[in-house]
Amino acid sequence: MHYKKLFSKHLLLRKFHKGDIDFIFKHFSDANVTRFLYDQEPLKSIEEASKLLSWVMDFDSQDHIRWCITLKDIPIGTCGFHLYDAEMKSAEIGYDLAYQHWNKGYMTEALNVVLHHAKQNLQLHTVNACVATDNTFSQKLLQKLKFVLVKTDPNKHLYRGKYYPHHIYSLVLK
Ligand SMILES: CC(C)(COP(=O)(O)OP(=O)(O)OC[C@H]1O[C@@H](n2cnc3c(N)ncnc32)[C@H](O)[C@@H]1OP(=O)(O)O)[C@@H](O)C(=O)NCCC(=O)NCCS
Repeated sequence: MHYKKLFSKHLLLRKFHKGDIDFIFKHFSDANVTRFLYDQEPLKSIEEASKLLSWVMDFDSQDHIRWCITLKDIPIGTCGFHLYDAEMKSAEIGYDLAYQHWNKGYMTEALNVVLHHAKQNLQLHTVNACVATDNTFSQKLLQKLKFVLVKTDPNKHLYRGKYYPHHIYSLVLK
């Protein structure tokens, strides 16, 4: 998927590089960040972080693309698209921000530029989002970005022996 460095008022969204390993480990082992990510366990080792870093550094992928969100050159989160469907021109959006930066408008800022890029350069028509029903902050973010609730799947993710319901939101890029 077509990569481009993206800028917003406060943020620079760039490619990941090998030096981001410590950030990836710290970020995806943080209980606040991973609390509602029922499709993956929090990271427990640098080896696990290294696998995830390889995934976000797979710049030739036809399935996904992930930016490193930076504030004053410091990584503070990630966002991007996965489950890209070329025929349908659709993909699912994903995002996560370091806890100390929550509720300052940063993810709204980041996703606005990423969604603009999706329309202009990735030629996406529809962006979907899958969010745990108890993840209220993420739902508020999606609603603010004009995503529409399409359905609720009661058994979306099996995590530690229990199914967690998820809302599916959708945004048609106009
Ligand atoms: C979901 C998440 C990315 C939101 O990022 P954020 O930068 O804090 O979001 P914003 O500041 O842009 O806020 C967007 C809206 O969400 C709501 N919101 C976000 N955080 C909130 C908080 N801590 N308290 C109250 N409302 C909050 C607000 O309504 C806000 O809009 P408003 O300020 O105009 O009212 C962040 O909480 C996060 O990383 N969570 C953990 C990872 C995660 O759950 N990812 C999503 C998986 S589906």
